[in-house]
Amino acid sequence: KIIILDFGSQYTQLIARRVRELNVYCEIHPFNHLPEFDDSVKGVIFSGSPYSVRQEDAPQIDLSLFHGKFPLLGVCYGAQYIAQHSGGEVVPSKIREYGRANLHYIDHNNPLFNKVGNLSQVWMSHGDTISSVPANFEIIASTDSVKVAAYHITGSQTYCIQFHPEVTHSTDGKQLLENFLTTICGCKQDWTPDAFIDTTIAGLREKLGNDLVVLGLSGGVDSSVAAVLLHQAIGKNLHCIFVDNGLLRKDEFEQVLDSYKHMGLNVRGIKASDRFLGALAGLTDPEQKRKAIGRVFIEVFDDAAHEVQNVKWLGQGTIYPDVIESVSVKGPSATIKSHHNVGGLPDFMKLKVVEPLNTLFKDEVRRVGKALGLDDTLLGRHPFPGPGLAIRILGDITPEKVAILQEADAIYINNLKSSGWYDKVWQAGAIFLPVHSVGVMGDERTYENVVCLRAVSSVDGMTADWSHLPYELLAKISNEIINNVKGINRVVYDISSKPPATIEWE
Ligand code: XMP
Repeated sequence: KIIILDFGSQYTQLIARRVRELNVYCEIHPFNHLPEFDDSVKGVIFSGSPYSVRQEDAPQIDLSLFHGKFPLLGVCYGAQYIAQHSGGEVVPSKIREYGRANLHYIDHNNPLFNKVGNLSQVWMSHGDTISSVPANFEIIASTDSVKVAAYHITGSQTYCIQFHPEVTHSTDGKQLLENFLTTICGCKQDWTPDAFIDTTIAGLREKLGNDLVVLGLSGGVDSSVAAVLLHQAIGKNLHCIFVDNGLLRKDEFEQVLDSYKHMGLNVRGIKASDRFLGALAGLTDPEQKRKAIGRVFIEVFDDAAHEVQNVKWLGQGTIYPDVIESVSVKGPSATIKSHHNVGGLPDFMKLKVVEPLNTLFKDEVRRVGKALGLDDTLLGRHPFPGPGLAIRILGDITPEKVAILQEADAIYINNLKSSGWYDKVWQAGAIFLPVHSVGVMGDERTYENVVCLRAVSSVDGMTADWSHLPYELLAKISNEIINNVKGINRVVYDISSKPPATIEWE
């Protein structure tokens, strides 16, 4: 495996994703929290950083642990740090080196630049620059304005680049990373979804033996893929629980439960709408609604988990980005615990936790799901918030409002699917607004509810843009909703981006 040491760059996860795309397993670790460096480590990558190496509080690391011991690739800050600590000099750049540039000089004899074309475009993003290097450094690439775009320390396996190979604007960045991984580190590129599945299943069998596991399915990709992996490893010893909180999309509980059963999962569906809607009655504050749903979910799940005798483990669909975040910023499972400040932990939370996907990125979960034979409709589903329609009904929630929103949302989503737009947008849904507006139907004046349609494009939900759905499609959906859903006389479309808006309305 490859270890990526994170100095805080916004691009660190991208480096990891590129390495994984090259079918090499890698892990991200904070620079100040080093993992064990055993024989399985084939190479180390230093990431960029928002700091300048000249700042007093800049991240520091003991280079003697790596230089000369492992093949080492320094990127941006990593390159400047290694230069500065090996006798070179780093100064503020006169012109800010930001954006596209071309490599006017490339040392094609250097293995790092194997198959990298002349004038290759690279992406620069730094305010400092390496101004001088000691005699044992070979400069292996330059742009017009950046002489030391890349260097190699003679006689070592330390290679450094000031540009960002992980960003797609560096057109040969992937080739360069591949050269580092294969030629320099000797990695085999055998980390594929199938290989992941085989080793994970073997590992789960060994870890779990004959133990029983409970797992909560949400209908989403992560919990489903985690369940299928566990199921292949331990079969009927996996007990899945799928809770109907009454806030899912129209008919979703039955459909998803059916598809889980078809997949052979040992799954129990629990209808608990009344408990959830009861707890939500009268609540209007979004955070209070979320808390109430979280609390009831834990109660319902705990009851169901108690019915599995002698269970030892709790299975979870946690994925890698959650893990990375929890190491570097927040501390583990901050959100789960917030539900439990009263009355102690419920029993299922005292179980040992098994998280088969906690080394995977979202797109890798999908690839693994596909290799496991999961249905495309399940793998391609839009994200859906845990509190479901409760945060898409602004203000207080009643069963009537849920029913109206389910109908409108179903018309919307079905039209997105039939027009081919469902797979083009990242997430879509209808929102029930807490206003009445006047309308006219036939000879009668109406005074009914407004539904807002939302559709966004996004990569990870952190930022989003509203989707430019065709007017004709919006017109068709609006007509269908107003003509078929009793209680709605007006449909609007949300044209706000995130930031400053958010994807959901609550
Ligand atoms: P926002 O509204 O913050 O949403 O732009 C970003 C993404 O997060 C989802 N979301 C939630 N998911 N529980 C969840 O499981 C929640 O309380 C929640 N709130 C927002 C939202 O659907 C979008 O994908």
